[in-house]
Amino acid sequence: MSAKPNPAGYLPELALGIPELDDQYQALFDMLGRIDAVSPDMYRQLDDDETDEMLDIMNDLKDSAMQHFSFEENLMDEADYPGLDDQQDAHERFLDDLTRVEAELMNGTSVPLVKIHGFLADWFDEHIREKDLHFAKFRKESAK
Ligand SMILES: [Fe+2]
Repeated sequence: MSAKPNPAGYLPELALGIPELDDQYQALFDMLGRIDAVSPDMYRQLDDDETDEMLDIMNDLKDSAMQHFSFEENLMDEADYPGLDDQQDAHERFLDDLTRVEAELMNGTSVPLVKIHGFLADWFDEHIREKDLHFAKFRKESAK
C-alpha cells in the first residue's frame, strides 16, 4: 500500500479491484501531491530551483508510469484482453506527453504548475474511467 491512504484526487470509484494496479495508481496520485508542494503559487512561472525539483518529480513520475503500464499490459496480455492495443497506444501517447512537458520545463517555456497538475490528474482520472475499469470488468468476468 502507498504511504497515504487517500491521495488527493484519487477517488474510491477509481478502484479497479486489482490490488497491485490500485496501489500503483495511488502512488501516482501521491506524486501529484509532490507537484503541489513545489511552489506556493501554482499559477506563476517557476524559478530555476523549482524547475529542477519539478524535473525530478517528472522523472519519478515517468519511471513509475512506465512500470505501471508494463505491469498492466502484462495482465491484459495474460487475460487475452482485446483492448490491449488501444491501451498500449494510450500509454505511449501519455509518455510522449510527459516528455513534451519535460522539454518545456527544460527550455523555460513551461506552463504553470496548475496546468501540469491538471493535465496529469485529468489524464489518470479519464484513463481509469474510460479504459482501465473496462479491463477490470473484462478480467473479472472472464475469471468466472
Ligand atoms: Fe491503462
